[in-house]
Amino acid sequence: MGRLTERVAVITGGGSGIGRATAVRFAEQGAVAVVVDIDAKGAATTVELIEKDGGTACWFECDVTDVEAVDSVTKSVIERYGAIDVLVTAAATSVGKKIPDTLPEEWDQVFAVNVKGTYLWMRACIPLMTKGTGSIVALASQLAISGGLSNAAYIASKGAIVSLCRTAANDHASEGIRINCILPGATQTPLLDRSFGRFKDPAPYIERSLSRHPLGRFGQPEEVANAALFLASDYASFTTGTELRVDGGWIGG
Ligand SMILES: NC(=O)c1ccc[n+]([C@@H]2O[C@H](COP(=O)([O-])OP(=O)(O)OC[C@H]3O[C@@H](n4cnc5c(N)ncnc54)[C@H](O)[C@@H]3O)[C@@H](O)[C@H]2O)c1
Repeated sequence: MGRLTERVAVITGGGSGIGRATAVRFAEQGAVAVVVDIDAKGAATTVELIEKDGGTACWFECDVTDVEAVDSVTKSVIERYGAIDVLVTAAATSVGKKIPDTLPEEWDQVFAVNVKGTYLWMRACIPLMTKGTGSIVALASQLAISGGLSNAAYIASKGAIVSLCRTAANDHASEGIRINCILPGATQTPLLDRSFGRFKDPAPYIERSLSRHPLGRFGQPEEVANAALFLASDYASFTTGTELRVDGGWIGG
């Protein structure tokens, strides 16, 4: 028996990085993995990886900022599988700029994907979740606590996700739905590569970031996926409204 046997898990941003690793891990543990991403190719690749190992998965192309698309995918999942037990919100974007350089439309886009996308998926799934098995895991970031450099909109959006999860956890605890977030440190994914790639000379920024991780390295997506598995499963049955740091012991801002 896997830890998520007979659970249906929707993973937004499941076409890459942490979302993909989470979908793969959940499927290994018996879940039906519903991979949602704006990148159809990435989502399809995740499903191929899962099916190759004998798991069950499907994918939907969906922009998490589009309320009609979110509601329509949710409806299709219910028609196909009859339930949504677990939601992981990993879809995210960033522009990598300080406040004066961030255009208002860039700010709006980051908040639309990271915060509104989280809210829209929670809004769609919470009413469908079953008492006792319902679990939501949102990907925030350790940067929400420490702050960071040249990434104002992204980091503010991650702070909003932390607050959203705390209040949602209060609102829905009596319904037996647990809502938590994960605060990853720097994790080796395309998003991290893009973040460092924005600097003309990334080397000192990579060095600086590494020095903040006492374990002496960046995280792997699978290590964050393991934390998501804990929070999504019954092993975390008394855990709600919390932030789990998966950050190699990150120190300082
Ligand atoms: N990698 C890190 O260092 C790190 C650190 C802290 C937090 N996180 C968080 O972890 C989560 C996953 O990040 P990752 O590093 O795996 O990133 P990633 O870029 O590898 O994957 C993000 C996925 O989100 C999808 N996406 C983007 N916009 C979308 C939209 N509008 N609708 C649907 N899908 C969309 C992308 O297509 C991509 O597949 C994010 O929430 C990120 O903020 C990552």
